[in-house]
Amino acid sequence: MASVHSLASTVNQRVADALSAALPEAGAADPLLRRSDRADFQANGILALAKKAKANPRELATTVVAELPAGDVIKEIEVSGPGFLNITVTDRAIIDTLAARAADARLGVPVAERPGTTVIDYAQPNVAKEMHVGHLRSAVIGAAMVEILEFTGEKVVRRHHIGDWGTQFGMLIQYLTEHPHELDHQHGGPEEGEAAMSSLNRLYKASRVLFDSDEDFKARSRDRVVALQAGDPETLALWQRFVDESKIYFYSVFDKLDMEINDPDVVGESGYNAMLEETCQILEDTGVAVRSDGALCVFFDDVKGPDGKPSPLIVKKSNGGYGYAATDLSAIRDRVQNLGATTLVYVVDARQSLHFKMVFETARRAGWLNEDVHAVQLAFGTVLGKDGKPFKTREGETVRLVDLLDEAVDRATAVVRSKADKVGLTEQEIVENGRYVGIGAVKYADLSTSASRDYKFDLDQMVSLNGDTSVYLQYAYARIQSILRNAGDRKLAAHPELELAPAERALGLHLDQFAETLAEVAAAYEPHKLTAYLYQLASLYTTFYDQCPVIKPEPAPDVAENRLFLCDLTARTLHQGMALLGIRTPERL
Ligand code: ARG
Repeated sequence: MASVHSLASTVNQRVADALSAALPEAGAADPLLRRSDRADFQANGILALAKKAKANPRELATTVVAELPAGDVIKEIEVSGPGFLNITVTDRAIIDTLAARAADARLGVPVAERPGTTVIDYAQPNVAKEMHVGHLRSAVIGAAMVEILEFTGEKVVRRHHIGDWGTQFGMLIQYLTEHPHELDHQHGGPEEGEAAMSSLNRLYKASRVLFDSDEDFKARSRDRVVALQAGDPETLALWQRFVDESKIYFYSVFDKLDMEINDPDVVGESGYNAMLEETCQILEDTGVAVRSDGALCVFFDDVKGPDGKPSPLIVKKSNGGYGYAATDLSAIRDRVQNLGATTLVYVVDARQSLHFKMVFETARRAGWLNEDVHAVQLAFGTVLGKDGKPFKTREGETVRLVDLLDEAVDRATAVVRSKADKVGLTEQEIVENGRYVGIGAVKYADLSTSASRDYKFDLDQMVSLNGDTSVYLQYAYARIQSILRNAGDRKLAAHPELELAPAERALGLHLDQFAETLAEVAAAYEPHKLTAYLYQLASLYTTFYDQCPVIKPEPAPDVAENRLFLCDLTARTLHQGMALLGIRTPERL
């Protein structure tokens, strides 16, 4: 495990040293190195530094150039425009750096020296309810962030804050006691998840109808809520049945999503029941929360209702009941005090942003969050239909996630099948690849738009072979694997002494950016920057492949070896990046 200094960081450091030598009063100055089309890199930082030091930027740039003789890493450096530096690195430095990456199983990506503990709250469906596209987003983005953070060395604790508590359970449980066979269905088999959900659905609808039309049933349901909250064993056992049935369904969907969710990480709202009273007590004792109209409330200067009056966070209702806020505040205490979190991440719909803003601020006032422990909501936007409106069925109902996933897999299987003859795939491979391509397409489409933005759920676009899709990346990966298989006895080996073609340099420099991209993605919780990186990698590979023959027509042996080396490192980088996003890369496609 050796982390590798990227060329960008090496060059940046050298320019920074030269800058400090040329302008000692600037201290440790950042030359702001970027990849550039003109040369390999451009340093743009000199302008601002010169301005601050009241120096002439072009003169300062020229002094920096004089301090930086061409050598092993820097091949050429020149001043351009008002004081930019254009820097070209040597071909040798590129291949040497890539060889160091290739020698490391982690592709030279460093492991955090002092990792923190991140508790990440994601994939949180609601008991007795169908999963929809909003739950997809939380699951997909959350799972990607888990993998990415863990890869950088962070300790990660997963929490699935499922909606398993609340007054609606009174109605459901009461209905079940009066209709005891309503949750019966076929157990076992691949359809079990669907069967569980459809009986839950039926029961939910029937109990709702009764609740809305029958006052006596309504009253009995209310008593049930009281019994549930009081911990009545019979009521709790019935409640547990709903949770268990729902989990059968959730796991079947997560399985379809090719996603591993572990039972101990499922700690729903009910898991914090025992803490609620104490949480409220602390908030009241410390004056963070105050009584207002019988309710326990936290007020904020900048949160007002439509009437202009302050709109508080209610931690305990006037009837003594606890809501969503009390649960989330208790969860924060648990995650910070018992799980040792240094960062809390919530992958939750942007429509809950006000809730989290108030909850985090309350936790700060209570001291549970502070300089050492902070919380962020990784807020995501709405999934829209092709028409640009929130995603609904023709009947105006929420679209079931499972139906979407099944359709994605069907379409992807058709795409895979249409190309299967060329590669000679077996029927089993077609089916398996169809799943990987279909589910990958859905995940990639979700991850490739910045989370905060809404996006259109468009299956045609998602499984398209051209453009910014996972299918394109999966085919690029499979194509490289096929080249490597066809290479037969030829060695793959780095040859730093060779002169590189432009497409080789461009591919090489991009490969070298993998670690830095990951660091950025992990720090800002922006998985879309990883998809963008991978898409560009596949595109640069395509250009390389068009311009630089690997096997046919056969180049000189050392050139072929070096190109095979580039092919292999590209494949490994694609594979690693896609794996972090939860997307498979079949070897043959
Ligand atoms: N179950 C909620 C929903 O479906 C999301 C829970 C988010 N997490 C939390 N700690 N509040 O909208």
